Amino acid sequence: MSQNESPDQVTLTVAGNAVELPVQRGTLGNPCIEIAKLPKATGCFTYDPGFGATASCKSAITYIDGEEGVLLYRGYPIEQLAARSNFLEVAYLLMNGELPTQDEFARFESDVTHHTMMHEAFKSFIGGFRHDAHPMAMLVGMLGSMASFYHNTLDLDDPEQRRMAAIRLIAKVPTIAAACYRHSIGWPLRYPRNNLEYVERFLHMMFEVPAGPLELKPVAARALDLLFILHADHEQNASTSTVRLVGSTGANPYACVAAGVAALWGPAHGGANEAVLKMLAEIGDAKHVQSAVDRAKDKESGFRLMGFGHRVYKNFDPRATIIREMTHKVLDELGIDDPMLEVAMRLEEAALKDDYFVQRKLYPNVDFYSGIIYKALGIPTEMFTVMFAIARTAGWVSHWLEQQEDPEFRIGRPRQIYTGHATRDYPAK
Ligand code: CMC
Repeated sequence: MSQNESPDQVTLTVAGNAVELPVQRGTLGNPCIEIAKLPKATGCFTYDPGFGATASCKSAITYIDGEEGVLLYRGYPIEQLAARSNFLEVAYLLMNGELPTQDEFARFESDVTHHTMMHEAFKSFIGGFRHDAHPMAMLVGMLGSMASFYHNTLDLDDPEQRRMAAIRLIAKVPTIAAACYRHSIGWPLRYPRNNLEYVERFLHMMFEVPAGPLELKPVAARALDLLFILHADHEQNASTSTVRLVGSTGANPYACVAAGVAALWGPAHGGANEAVLKMLAEIGDAKHVQSAVDRAKDKESGFRLMGFGHRVYKNFDPRATIIREMTHKVLDELGIDDPMLEVAMRLEEAALKDDYFVQRKLYPNVDFYSGIIYKALGIPTEMFTVMFAIARTAGWVSHWLEQQEDPEFRIGRPRQIYTGHATRDYPAK
């Protein structure tokens, strides 16, 4: 039902008792039946595992039309932002609702740039992790600890303190991420070079060695900036919903974002880009593609094509289309002949003509090609989800900021269908 066709209210009859439920409409998207008064009026809750049919909040940040393959940040199509903007400008847009003027951007960039350093005590914190700790484990821990460094600026009623916390997170997550990587390979930590732009600074923190300068190809920074734009936000996905749920308790933003990173880690969410590369490596050769497709169709196998399917996109993922093009460009310009790209293209081709995938509307998602670009840039597989986290921090803090100003803001507290024992007596001894 479209917005225009939707009635102002619907009637639900429960055991002969008719309840009028208002219908809420946003600017775009499906109308939503408001059910808040349902329990009081009928004694019933609603049941929606995975929240596939439930809007948890009102938000003006990002809009997705999964049928049409549309993704808008603050109304701007992702294709236009990918072609004409940069990650930091997109972060500003997500946080503030409008594109910045030149002066606003200069101030924002300067604010972010001046908060890139970590407290020195972080170094011993990082040193405490095992050398082979997964960087996502380190990132969750490090972000969780951030509040302990900024406890004097955690007055959530102060809009400026909220803004600064968001800036600190956008600024420091790349520094922390690069430090986690360097710890894992035994390199000395690198301080952020503030004469560089956001993405280049991160690449320097990742790859510069004391022994010599780093020569960075412009296509590397451009590709990473593009990936960051495409991953910056995706409305109420699992990690953003987690940030909001934690945020609804009044917890500080560092704890909220640490929780978001934990949610992102899973292979059904941000961990998929790592899983895609492992899968492509396992398939190994284009001649094994068909058997991988067959295995993914066999429910008994427990194997899914990673990087395929999406809860919301049921046509194509517009981010995948943009990334696919950039993948070819990066490999060409860096002169890399990666057999995984061949496997990926054959896999995509085979799945897209297979009835199983066509009927279920399973298309390559954002993570299908992103890993190939990360690999070409020299980023190790374990860091892929960390890269996603750097970009998504812009979305998480924007949702957290929006939530703090939401007049309908209340603690998130879902209900359940209890399936355990009914009341029973403790056995006599
Ligand atoms: N390979 C094979 N079959 C699949 C796949 C897949 N990748 N994805 C879904 N299906 C099947 C699934 O078995 C089910 O079949 P049936 O109707 O016969 O039971 C049907 O398609 C619907 O799947 P679902 O699990 O009910 O769909 P969902 O909306 O709950 O899950 C998903 C979405 C993304 C978790 C899922 O498609 C998946 O596991 N994909 C692989 C992991 C992946 O690439 N995740 C990254 C998502 S994009 C990045 C992000 O936003 O985090």
